[in-house]
Amino acid sequence: MSELKDMVIAVTGGASGLGKAICLRATELGAKVAVMDLNAAAAAEVAAGLAGARSYAVDVSDAGQVNAVYAQIGADFGRLDGAVNNAGIGGEFGPVTACSDANWDKTIAVNLTSVFLCMKAQLPLMLASGGGSIVNMASLAGLLAEEALPAYIASKHGVVGLTKSVAIDYGKQNIRCNAVCPSFIKTPMVESGFPDPAFWQKMGDMHPIGRMVTAEEVADIATFLLSKRAGGMTGSVHLADGGAAAK
Ligand code: NAI
Repeated sequence: MSELKDMVIAVTGGASGLGKAICLRATELGAKVAVMDLNAAAAAEVAAGLAGARSYAVDVSDAGQVNAVYAQIGADFGRLDGAVNNAGIGGEFGPVTACSDANWDKTIAVNLTSVFLCMKAQLPLMLASGGGSIVNMASLAGLLAEEALPAYIASKHGVVGLTKSVAIDYGKQNIRCNAVCPSFIKTPMVESGFPDPAFWQKMGDMHPIGRMVTAEEVADIATFLLSKRAGGMTGSVHLADGGAAAK
């Protein structure tokens, strides 16, 4: 399988969960991956197992670090063909009156401002490479609200809007930009908070497919969007929710 053959693809949050699954799948499909994460050691471990990959330590909410790391990626690989802006945090639980300013600021910075900063650095590299495909990891929470997560909900709704904005501004320059909206996926971000197996059974049952969507299935959607097979798709929002939003 060589759908992404020789494409250089940057994945933020590549050390864990969905990002790690995307790094693995993209490599299987022939890409050379830049595994980017706040957790330098974990990113290095992921990259060490992937042919052609390199790891980069970066806080995606810090403009200086983002600009420096993409300059390094450009120097190391000589081009950039795809990017998955996936790094994110859940933030604290509680309605608006219980949402601290610090939680608001951090969640918006890591989940939304980071996507702006990364795309601002990615686009010049992609334009110089003749085009590219950007996939932004939003969430079902980017389309629907759920209880007690105002900063997360706002950040992911913002990611969906920003995705559409880039799609219409850069489409004629051979840049595509799409969003993926997973439902609840069992990754380290959410797993530790719910130790009771009964919770996961209940979550699976809530999905019309009768089980939860896997990280590998989200990776399949993301890598399809990166590939030329998705050449007709931009500014679109792709559910990875096992039918949850259809109810
Ligand atoms: P995870 O916690 O397993 O992985 C997130 C990765 O992002 C970690 O390796 C972490 O070190 C990195 N990261 C966090 N802050 C960072 C920063 N400032 N700079 C660079 N890297 C940073 O989480 P998971 O579940 O894989 O989530 C990935 C994305 O998918 C997030 O944007 C999340 O909001 C989104 N998502 C997750 C869902 C789920 O149920 N797991 C559902 C819908 C969306």
